[in-house]
Amino acid sequence: ATLKVDASPQSARKIPETLFGIFFEEINHAGAGGIWAELVSNRGFEAGGPHTPSNIDPWSIIGDDSSVFVATDRTSCFSRNNVALRMEVLCDDCPTAGVGIYNPGFWGMNIEDGKAYNLVMYVKSPETTDLTVSLTSSDGLQNLASTTITVSGTSNWTKVEQKLVAKGTNRTSRLQITTNKKGVVWFDQVSLMPEDTYKGHGFRTELISMLLDLKPRFLRFPGGCFVEGDWLRNAFRWRESIGPWEERPGHFGDVWHYWTDDGLGYYEFLQLAEDLGAAPIWVFNNGVSHNDEVDTAAIAPFVKDVLDSLEFARGSADSTWGSVRAAMGHPEPFPVKYVAIGNEDCGKKFYRGNYIKFYNAIRQAYPDIQMISNCDGSSKPLDHPADLYDFHVYTDSKTLFNMKSTFDRTSRSGPKAFVSEYAVWRSDAGRGSLLASLAEAAFLTGLEKNSDIVQMASYAPLFVNDNDRTWNPDAIVFNSWQHYGTPSYWMQTLFRESSGAMLHPITISSSYSGSLAASAITWQDSENSFLRVKANAVSLTISTTGLQASVNALGSTTTVLTSGNVMDENSFSNPNKVAPVKSELSNAAEQMQVTLAPHSFSTFDLALA
Ligand code: AHR
Repeated sequence: ATLKVDASPQSARKIPETLFGIFFEEINHAGAGGIWAELVSNRGFEAGGPHTPSNIDPWSIIGDDSSVFVATDRTSCFSRNNVALRMEVLCDDCPTAGVGIYNPGFWGMNIEDGKAYNLVMYVKSPETTDLTVSLTSSDGLQNLASTTITVSGTSNWTKVEQKLVAKGTNRTSRLQITTNKKGVVWFDQVSLMPEDTYKGHGFRTELISMLLDLKPRFLRFPGGCFVEGDWLRNAFRWRESIGPWEERPGHFGDVWHYWTDDGLGYYEFLQLAEDLGAAPIWVFNNGVSHNDEVDTAAIAPFVKDVLDSLEFARGSADSTWGSVRAAMGHPEPFPVKYVAIGNEDCGKKFYRGNYIKFYNAIRQAYPDIQMISNCDGSSKPLDHPADLYDFHVYTDSKTLFNMKSTFDRTSRSGPKAFVSEYAVWRSDAGRGSLLASLAEAAFLTGLEKNSDIVQMASYAPLFVNDNDRTWNPDAIVFNSWQHYGTPSYWMQTLFRESSGAMLHPITISSSYSGSLAASAITWQDSENSFLRVKANAVSLTISTTGLQASVNALGSTTTVLTSGNVMDENSFSNPNKVAPVKSELSNAAEQMQVTLAPHSFSTFDLALA
């Protein structure tokens, strides 16, 4: 096959700066028990619901029912989350190791030798008592860190803060709070955070590194279906997720079936976007869930609520909501320039009516904000105003491969496309196969080619905690201490330089042009310019014309993503089975012959002198 690249400047077109980004959804414990580093699960005892006694899972007792009795009541000092845990120690002669409670975190806490962990908890004890807080192995036998805190007897709640430094490593540890003294103690809002988080902002550093490596230009958050809820009462509410963490009520994400304390809230998402250098895209609920809807006649308070969220992000530090943001530590506004009005709700009864109310109100208050409709404008024009429309695709590898030409046929007038969720899934995706990533690569070359109309694209879902495999496949797999990228993750790294690069027209002469996917860009790192050709062909002649510079073999490289079997996947034991391999391209030239592995996708970066 021959791939001709027209590299002349007059034929080149700039790819949008925003083309490739990420979509973070609170799914698969991506946030709670995921990138949010909080180690305690159900820290405020709210997950069992407001009716007491309630299920305190995953908390449990140390001792037996003759020595300790625990039950929730509603005596907390926090009005928005008033459930607390009352512990009554019944034994006169308690075991030396004490009785009490423990929390195993999210499938075990990763406690590492020499690292510091900050414990905060609220305690009330009518009589002065000693509490021992420890980090131990899951059976309580290995002691990794321990200290005893004396709580003065009072009828008021006391905030306890204690740093624990681990003297050993255990990946499935637990937090214990024990005592030997008979009496009653209440607990609430028990938090254990590693001292070392990304920029001190509460995120797991190694997982953020994976995101930084994608060079994401935008961050769409916090869902997905998570934003909608199966029922509106369980939808994500930004207002409940801001302010001091202790005062957040938390909520049950009913679509993905787990509780979140909302430590990772609206503010933290905005902070994450800033930390990643990505434009925040706030997906808000527009009064539509999977099963119930707000009538457009009654949508006004929801519109007001979203305007407040925008003031929280963008308002000055002395505005009503901007001052709340400032009090949380960010006096400078967060530059929210995009909002998505709902998620996958186009066909719903009140979607369009509600959409228009949100659209008009936001346009008036923030004329520069780009608004994203849930209705697909790729096949027919939208019947409502929008700056962008959402396009979601989850399909088999063959179909996605062939969808590389989907946007060739799309009207160039009207709103731009935001491919905010794409992935190969189900039939031949496995838990992230090479095959899936190859089809995604073909699709992405089509998005590059059509980036005059496709302004943004993101893979979904981004993260999965291996202990909650609700949705497969995903880009990044992790547990309490390990992580790896699936082939789909690595494939995205081959496209990360495309945002803001120059796109060149290509022509393919091949008897199997239908199965050939390719694209060509010029891009720059901090020092050099490169012509990058990406392709999946087995044997390829790359022929470039119109280059304004000469190709320098020194500094030219090729990167290939392949594996022995097209269904190969990565795993904790073999995390780099399918990962990009970079090597020098000693034959780099305007005309060059390359031979690639049968199931592979490669980039050729020709250094331009
Ligand atoms: O990415 C998983 C889910 O797929 C998202 O929550 C939703 O938008 C889509 O249906």
